[in-house]
Amino acid sequence: MTPTRPIHLTVNGQAHRCAVAPRQHLVDFLREDLGLTGSHLGCEHGVCGACSVRLDGQVVRGCLVLAVQADGRSVETIEGLTDGGTARDLQDAFVARNALQCGYCTSGMLMAAAELLHAQPHATREEVRVWMSGNYCRCTGYQAIVDAVCDVLISRKAAEVLISRKTAEVLTSPKIAAGTQRAAS
Ligand code: FES
Ligand code: FES
Repeated sequence: MTPTRPIHLTVNGQAHRCAVAPRQHLVDFLREDLGLTGSHLGCEHGVCGACSVRLDGQVVRGCLVLAVQADGRSVETIEGLTDGGTARDLQDAFVARNALQCGYCTSGMLMAAAELLHAQPHATREEVRVWMSGNYCRCTGYQAIVDAVCDVLISRKAAEVLISRKTAEVLTSPKIAAGTQRAAS
């Protein structure tokens, strides 16, 4: 019988205490032990990105990280990302742009795209292409995926501009200005 090691980690905000084989990979642990099957196994060599998950906020290849290395750390899978609702616009854009067919790569693509939106909210199309090039899709082709990510970059930027305009309008409205003057006198 393979010896096991106890680990304690948080997955999608939920604490888990488990015993794992020292050589079990994180993605296998998530899929087989926790039933979180959204992260997929493709190449198992760190190349395709299908197994992408967040470890302490950083996207990593789940096939290159051992479950024991996640001890005491926080993991977020595609289930956590999508249940949280923060990737809703990204998911919608993938559907609208037909950026998936079999869907095998999609969880990894969404993890990578969500990280890009956070790290480079003003990325150009070329930067999106470079960023997403670490994830492989075997059936859709990449144009539609890049289109979907660019759509979200544009719509989030537009929303940001609208919010700053509204905030400026509120701050310069006569009522607020009068209130500020009264408070200062
Ligand atoms: S399965 Fe991990 S990178 Fe391909
Ligand atoms: S949609 Fe099939 S691998 Fe990408």
